[in-house]
Amino acid sequence: MSNIVSVSRANPVVRSGHAQLSIILRETDKSTLQNQIFDQIRTMILNGQLRGDDPLPTTRELSAQLGVSRNTAVLAYERLISEGYIRTKPYVGTFVSPDLPDTAFLSSASAGPAATQLQTDAAAASSDEPIRDLRTHRLADPDRRRLAADFWVGRPDARTFPLKAWSQHIKGRLKSAGARLTSYSDPAGLLELRQAIAKHLAPARGVVCDADQIIIVGGCQDGFNLVGRLLVTPGSTAVVESPCYQGAAFVLESLGAKLHPVPIDRDGLDVSKLPHVKGALAYVTPSHQYPVGVTMSLQRRIELLSWATQYDAYIIEDDYDSDFRFVGSPLTALKGLDRNERVIYLGTFSKCMGPGLRLGYVVAPRRLVDSFRRMKMLMNNGQSWLEQAAMADFMSSGEFGRHLRRIRQLYRERRDALLGALKKHFGDCEVYGEQAGMHLVWKLPEGFPSAAEVEARGLAAGVGVCSLATGSALRFGDDDDGDRLLMLGFVALTEKEIEDGIARLAAALRG
Ligand SMILES: Cc1ncc(COP(=O)(O)O)c(C=O)c1O
Repeated sequence: MSNIVSVSRANPVVRSGHAQLSIILRETDKSTLQNQIFDQIRTMILNGQLRGDDPLPTTRELSAQLGVSRNTAVLAYERLISEGYIRTKPYVGTFVSPDLPDTAFLSSASAGPAATQLQTDAAAASSDEPIRDLRTHRLADPDRRRLAADFWVGRPDARTFPLKAWSQHIKGRLKSAGARLTSYSDPAGLLELRQAIAKHLAPARGVVCDADQIIIVGGCQDGFNLVGRLLVTPGSTAVVESPCYQGAAFVLESLGAKLHPVPIDRDGLDVSKLPHVKGALAYVTPSHQYPVGVTMSLQRRIELLSWATQYDAYIIEDDYDSDFRFVGSPLTALKGLDRNERVIYLGTFSKCMGPGLRLGYVVAPRRLVDSFRRMKMLMNNGQSWLEQAAMADFMSSGEFGRHLRRIRQLYRERRDALLGALKKHFGDCEVYGEQAGMHLVWKLPEGFPSAAEVEARGLAAGVGVCSLATGSALRFGDDDDGDRLLMLGFVALTEKEIEDGIARLAAALRG
């Protein structure tokens, strides 16, 4: 008996504009309906059946024609969007991305028969090759530039970048660059920068370390790779928060780790659910959990550290946006409590300066320093000298400290503006993560549409807000509140833009 549900029952082809989607869903398939839709649309894109800018049906049309819930279609689309295969144009619709992530998959239409044969042969050969299906997070969406207000998460305000001081330091360093630009340096990074970071970390984060424990990396993402390449072996356990940051989880997964999600609650990671296995690697965001924003309690931090000691585990502490704490004094990082050297601390300049710099750092336990240094050499021989030198000067001159104090105050005012606007338009809101960081999370009340639907309606009204998938958060199953959580980045908008944006969103939701 056929287990084909949906299209083949009613209409095997979902039509929208020029795009024709033949999607067959099978109940017996081990994959969920949402994954089947995702896989089939992705395949159509990769094999050229769907091309850049081809229009796709709306999630409403798709769900009606496939006979699946709207949420299933929305989740499939969210994943296609987050992996860059399709994109939504505000006011217009959903389209195949013009810049596909896998440009090697070309259709044969523009080439002659010989090329077509070559591609067919290559496809036949590659079907047996162990090329892995890499999942990736989402970095940017150029279409969102057209929005009136975009509460996109994790990006600083370009207007706050200290351009004048930065160009002076770059120019100053270039004058005396000499052989520095034409030779290799220590793969662990420029000593002056490592010293400046060590000096900054002690008072700012309670992390006391020597400069030689620091490895300069190309942002946290490079740090995840560095740590993962050293500590993940195929099949080893990687504990991640549920939900968690895709960028970290996907790296660990790509290296062969088995992801072991552990739920979070208001006190952060639920340590009672940690696995009782030896030698795991745990990835956590204790200061401002990504995506939900909660802070891990002291009790949980201590328990997490004893678990790591008991089970010979290492912990990656991703302290991505800890420069911004708006309530009370700065919290000591987990690394600051780590007496047994189980914590690998990751810091980044992506949030307090800008991700374009690609600069971050790892503070390694002493016994791993030499291995990290060697691995960094194998990976890329270290970071660019010029940016490291400019950053070292910016820090040691005291400008970095002043810059942080200035933007912390500005971001606090913007956070207050967002909280005020939410209250004004939606009444008392259940909000998480507002004490720190660059985004907060609003748990949508009963009676509201899902976060994905709010996001879609917001985009149609020129306002960008993020469901978890759009905000590069990875969920494990759908039995949590994840589809009711809306992420709102507030630092890249002025107070006026924030107020206007939330007013627009409220109007769109009323409509
Ligand atoms: C949780 C988390 N960690 C780290 C990063 C920063 O990555 P990078 O330093 O590679 O720019 C991000 C960026 O959005 C993030 O959300």
